[in-house]
Amino acid sequence: MKEPFNPFVINTYQGKDYFCDRENDLKILISHIENDRNVVLYAWRRLGKSALIHRFFEELETSKGCETIYIDLLATQNIDEAIQSIASAIYEKYGRTTAGISASIQKLLASIGATISFNALSGLPEISIGINKSEQPGQSLKALGDFLLSRKKRIVIAIDEFQQIADYEGANAEAIFRTWVQQIPEVRFIFSGSHRTLMEAIFTEKKRPFYQSSQLESLQPIALEAYTKFITEHFQAAKKSIEADSIEKIYTWSRGQTYTVQLVCNHLFANYKKVSLSDVDVVFDQILTQQQAVFANFQKMLTRAQWNIFRAVAKEEPLQNPLSKDFIQKHNLGAASTVSTALKALERLELVVKDEGYYLVHEVQLARWMARL
Ligand SMILES: Nc1ncnc2c1ncn2[C@@H]1O[C@H](COP(=O)(O)OP(=O)(O)O)[C@@H](O)[C@H]1O
Ligand SMILES: [Mg+2]
Repeated sequence: MKEPFNPFVINTYQGKDYFCDRENDLKILISHIENDRNVVLYAWRRLGKSALIHRFFEELETSKGCETIYIDLLATQNIDEAIQSIASAIYEKYGRTTAGISASIQKLLASIGATISFNALSGLPEISIGINKSEQPGQSLKALGDFLLSRKKRIVIAIDEFQQIADYEGANAEAIFRTWVQQIPEVRFIFSGSHRTLMEAIFTEKKRPFYQSSQLESLQPIALEAYTKFITEHFQAAKKSIEADSIEKIYTWSRGQTYTVQLVCNHLFANYKKVSLSDVDVVFDQILTQQQAVFANFQKMLTRAQWNIFRAVAKEEPLQNPLSKDFIQKHNLGAASTVSTALKALERLELVVKDEGYYLVHEVQLARWMARL
């Protein structure tokens, strides 16, 4: 892996040195895998699920002798695209040999009607499944599973943004996937997802195929103490400095959301040698200004009532009782029934989330921006 220029990475996993803590989460994940349990990892967006999976996979590959396969379903809209993603991940992992494309992988891809082509721009291989080829998604998955079973090492598969399958049209994707998982009991699975309510529903509703099939782990924010140590050390290593009270301020403003903490620190590290509390405010401002165009779009997406309530939640969060007279009058929100309907819509869109009885705006940067309006 290439060293980043800035130690506060904001895109992806860049190796242990740039990864803060999560030691306990890692221990829990390792224990699940070592005891043959499948895991559901879920949390609000941008808290660090995907990065943790990469960190965990590095550990499994280097010291546990496992083979790991990472699949991201975020951009998939149907089961064919999901199978395409799985086939691509398997190809990435096992397809290339010094002599070209492995023969067993070629055979496997052909059996599921997939072809490899080379992207004209990047020159990279791409897997595509011809139209109508995978009329039998169950059979394609079975073929992929049989290939995995033929491997000698223990295999761990992570399916990220797994909640997508609940939106697939047509065939019952949950049932098809559940069958697949049962066909390959030696393979361990981590199902990860951002949509907390959907993930919980998939795995805890009695009538659904994945009911009680996996261990549910909800990821929490990194503790302030661990983050303080991590941030301080990276500044010191570059002969820069930041005080604990500045870090606490960043952490609170970010509501402990990993991505936002990283983003603020990335800017501070880039622009200052000795960070003061007022520098922190300057960076908050810069970040919100940069996002302005994106945030302003939300207003266009929502009805007037929804927008007004959304903004009021941002101003009052953590908000306990959105139907209270005080709240409604203070923000001039009209009838309680209007508030209730609009709030339900905002929750369905996961723009507003309910966390331990309190309403919050899901995107913390958006919350900070709206609170200023
Ligand atoms: N433990 C960590 N230490 C440092 N940076 C992290 C850590 N976890 C996540 N990040 C960073 O935070 C951002 C969001 O994390 P990500 O894993 O994409 O969140 P999620 O998958 O939960 O939406 C990523 O850019 C990643 O680089
Ligand atoms: Mg992710």
